[in-house]
Amino acid sequence: MKVFVTGGAGYIGSHTVLELLKAGHDVVVVDNLCNSSEESLKRVTRLAGRDIVFYNADIRDEKKLEEIVSKEAPFDATIHFAALKAVGESVSIPLKYYENNVGGTFTLLKVLAAHNCKNIVFSSSATVYGQPQSVPIREDFPTPGCTNPYGWTKLMMEQVFRDVQKADGEWNTILLRYFNPIGAHESGEIGEDPAGIPNNLLPYVAQVAIGRLKELSVFGDDYPTVDGTGVRDYIHVVDLALGHLRAIEKLVEKPGFKIYNLGTGNGYSVLQIIKAFEEASSRKVPYAIKPRREGDIAECWADPALAANELGWKAERGIKEMCRDLWNWQSKNPYGFGKPPAGE
Ligand code: NAD
Ligand code: UD1
Repeated sequence: MKVFVTGGAGYIGSHTVLELLKAGHDVVVVDNLCNSSEESLKRVTRLAGRDIVFYNADIRDEKKLEEIVSKEAPFDATIHFAALKAVGESVSIPLKYYENNVGGTFTLLKVLAAHNCKNIVFSSSATVYGQPQSVPIREDFPTPGCTNPYGWTKLMMEQVFRDVQKADGEWNTILLRYFNPIGAHESGEIGEDPAGIPNNLLPYVAQVAIGRLKELSVFGDDYPTVDGTGVRDYIHVVDLALGHLRAIEKLVEKPGFKIYNLGTGNGYSVLQIIKAFEEASSRKVPYAIKPRREGDIAECWADPALAANELGWKAERGIKEMCRDLWNWQSKNPYGFGKPPAGE
């Protein structure tokens, strides 16, 4: 298949492009590198032993996108990763998030429709479930609203995809709701490279273990969970990438509109993650208990049965492999794809 990937230089995008290439697909990537570097794609092509077509462009630039799609279409499928994703930042600069994520999606859909490329997979998030009524979370649970603009952009984009497909049955649309992607490719060549101080648990833990950060703050130990700390469904990024391959294969069946959770179905607490990471890295991860983080929920994990039944996809890698591969990436690339920041 020929696959168009927006945001393909990023964390999940680069792992997905690698699996696409390994499976024999042809890949065209568009990314404006606002949160990534072209180095990730160079490493991907080296690992795969195959090339991609890369455009450094912004999906909101309709003229440029039109040029790219005119030249490269038809695509058998598009995978739309391109978005801004920092929850805290989205609270301070909401317009930028709505403009980039929602506005960018409008432009992309318009241009793809004009070229009759109507098969698409979209990166959504478990954040759309808000405070879930119970766990495990099924796709038919309500999505009552989010606690931050980033989450709202995902919920709004879901609605846009739903309405567009309803109006034009030629669209085949799969929304993938990711749980918590972590880890890295087993080569240690590509991985997550957060800008500044990480917000998410695992990149923070890894930077404490490597000595870049002093100690982890554990946000709350009084939740009604196994040990009082927050519980999440962590999923290996390579399993997540493989979920996209199953999704584009599903598009061939012309499924109309579908939503799937991509998670493992297992929850781990913050303290369990610290222990697993210490074992994988043979390093200590000093931590201190701090108050709860605003907007956090106690527990969130997936019921992944629908993806298993309809996509034939199941996460294969456990928490040990996730921590091992993250540590391998972190220790080989203590500063990600870049150089040490000034002062370190
Ligand atoms: P990432 O920031 O590493 O990748 C996103 C990529 O999109 C980056 O390379 C960035 O440069 C690019 N991009 C952003 N805006 C763009 C624009 N206007 N034009 C062109 N390129 C643009 O993030 P990721 O973790 O790989 O996430 C990929 C997708 O998955 C995002 O949509 C994100 O919201 C979603 N998601 C991520 C997580 C997670 O925990 N990482 C969880 C749920 C959903
Ligand atoms: C966060 C986002 C969510 C996004 C998801 C992507 C918030 C409120 N939610 O979710 O919108 O889709 O990332 O992966 O930011 N923790 C600590 N110390 C830390 C960091 C995290 O104790 O320094 C705890 C959290 O309280 C939580 C768990 O670790 O219990 C996981 O946190 P995180 O990695 O930020 O993911 P989510 O909270 O699931």
